[in-house]
Amino acid sequence: MTTLDSTVDYDVLIPNNVALASDARVRRGLERWHPGYIDWWMDMGPDGFQTSDVYLRTAVRVESKGADKWAVFDYVKMPDYRWGILLAPEDPDRKIPFGRHRGEPAWQEVPGEYRAMLRRLIVIQGDTEPASVEQQRFLGKTAPSLYDMRNLFQVNVEEGRHLWAMVYLLQKYFGRDGREEAGELLRRRSGSEDAPRMLGAFNEETPDWLSFFLFTFFTDRDGRMQLESLAQSGFDPLSRTCRFMLTEEAFHMFVGETGVTRIVQRTCEAMTAAGMDDPTDVEAVRALGVIDLPTIQKKVNLHYSLTLDLFGSELSTNSANFFNAGLKGRFREHRLEDDHRLHEATYGIPEPSNGGWSVALHPALNALNARLRDDFTDDCNLGVGRWNKTIRESGVDFEITLPHVAFHRQIGVYRDLHATPEGDLVSEDDWNRRRHEWLPDDADRAFIESLMKPEFRPGHYASWIAEPRIRINHKPGDFEWVKLAEA
Ligand SMILES: [Fe+2]
Ligand SMILES: [Fe+2]
Repeated sequence: MTTLDSTVDYDVLIPNNVALASDARVRRGLERWHPGYIDWWMDMGPDGFQTSDVYLRTAVRVESKGADKWAVFDYVKMPDYRWGILLAPEDPDRKIPFGRHRGEPAWQEVPGEYRAMLRRLIVIQGDTEPASVEQQRFLGKTAPSLYDMRNLFQVNVEEGRHLWAMVYLLQKYFGRDGREEAGELLRRRSGSEDAPRMLGAFNEETPDWLSFFLFTFFTDRDGRMQLESLAQSGFDPLSRTCRFMLTEEAFHMFVGETGVTRIVQRTCEAMTAAGMDDPTDVEAVRALGVIDLPTIQKKVNLHYSLTLDLFGSELSTNSANFFNAGLKGRFREHRLEDDHRLHEATYGIPEPSNGGWSVALHPALNALNARLRDDFTDDCNLGVGRWNKTIRESGVDFEITLPHVAFHRQIGVYRDLHATPEGDLVSEDDWNRRRHEWLPDDADRAFIESLMKPEFRPGHYASWIAEPRIRINHKPGDFEWVKLAEA
């Protein structure tokens, strides 16, 4: 068996490193799917900037070697972006790392008995990719800078590429039903009544830039956790696909984390300059043209809790089946030291007891969603810690925290409880009465919306967000990240 080259063939309609040139069936299937994808991009992709030149990154290889970077940067009109099919290099000795087939050679073809399960995993992952593009399509018009606009569009084209990645797997390995699923991925629409996207958070709106940064921080990070566990898959083409997607995904989290940092920094700078030391005096802080920290906390509560629901029910026989079958592993399975089968293992899940919380042990196999969610929370807390460092260094007395796991949940073992962000259980009436202490209300949304004025002059930033400290590809501060086609 030959190992595929890590360089990508760009002299063809669909750039790829999977030897599409010699795979006529799949190439034709993808070529037939392509026009529908472009139609979808024009209908549901960024609204109003399709003829602008955007300074975008395009992957040209799947690994960095010496001075050869895996991506190049250049001005591109988004509809001309080279969406391609890129898989991380094959390891011919790779073994299935967990589950009942642990130690057997990784599968290069779909095992018949797991076909339906595997297809479902790929479709669910694939559905999230175009959904976020749809959710973010109007944000370009209110971008706080050309730099941020460029980052939004970079995230959008890469989510488009991730859709290609999943569609390739469907078309290559699932025959006719794979092609049907590929068509359905272009038919569903975020927020639609008749054909919504498959997961709740992907049908919510992303109406403003604070929402966008929190979405990339929390919800793209859920995506990262899912990709990390699918990168462990015994089905090798899925593993290799996800491993390369993770290379791109790191940037999406960078956008979210630094975006919120810059908002928090700007708020603290404005407060300090005005001699204000009470971060909870919301009206006074807002009068400075920046977003007050309590409102940022409410938005954190909202986006975090919506994202926790994406992990699915804490106790799930589906996730046990995926693991046993060797299809979906744990976060960084290869670094964990246990038997990787988990028949005897247990995992603790917080549950209410005597007015407080205690930890109940469950079979680890059934609690894999809870475990992945806990790994997610740990990872989130690293970023939240960096936001708090920015606040502390500015001398403002405020701390952003993640709410309790049971707060504002719609899915899983906590969904019928009414918990405050601190984890106190209250009656439904009390919760509803106090809900807007914890979650944004119409006035909060209207205030944020009032700040969303475009700032399209190179080197300028809206009042409520600081200039970035590190810029993409070391470009100068007045760099024209997007050359606007229309005034
Ligand atoms: Fe993605
Ligand atoms: Fe992403």
